[in-house]
Amino acid sequence: MSLFVTLEGIDGSGKTTLARHVHKRMEAHDIDTIATQEPTKSWLGDAVRRSVDEGADPWVQTLLFLADRSRHIEEIREWISQDRVVICDRYHDSTVAYQGVALEGRVSNPLEWIRRVSSPFLLEPDITLLLVVEPTEGLARLSAVRERTPFEELEFLRRVQELYLRLAVETRFVKLDSSRPPEVLAREAEGIILSRLQR
Ligand code: TYD
Repeated sequence: MSLFVTLEGIDGSGKTTLARHVHKRMEAHDIDTIATQEPTKSWLGDAVRRSVDEGADPWVQTLLFLADRSRHIEEIREWISQDRVVICDRYHDSTVAYQGVALEGRVSNPLEWIRRVSSPFLLEPDITLLLVVEPTEGLARLSAVRERTPFEELEFLRRVQELYLRLAVETRFVKLDSSRPPEVLAREAEGIILSRLQR
């Protein structure tokens, strides 16, 4: 049985570590699992990362995130059709939450605009794990490991998190308290995915 799982959360929320742990745990259960991420590892993903690093105009960044996803979704559909479990570190909700904030004042209703433009190439995840961490804590974790990107400012991340929490009323979302140790989070995520596969 296929399953499309996305991991979301602000910078420093621990998604990438969780994705790695979950992937390993699925493999240990002999479940055919693909771990993927956005921005993707492709020239489009490179263009996205460059636009973020260079602080390009929010419209340019938004259109690049969407362009990257429009190709990525073809791969995801293919994996799903092969009955695999796809674990995707960031996806459409990242665009809604981050560009929803970044495009404020540029278009009258950023969320509605993003949803409308994304609709031709959107596949709804079965489960979205939203890692919730205090923005100050997320930033502190990041500073410990590397330099910050332009998105990683406290006020901006507070607003991104607010948007994520608003999105999380949809039933596909499961909120995970990311202040807990990585193994505890991984076990919880594993349980959620396995119980969904057994349904
Ligand atoms: P990413 O490489 O996932 O960074 P991290 O591993 O630190 O979470 O993403 C790079 C940045 O791009 C991150 O700050 C989140 C942002 N982002 C968006 O603004 N919109 C999007 O659609 C995506 C996928 C990422």
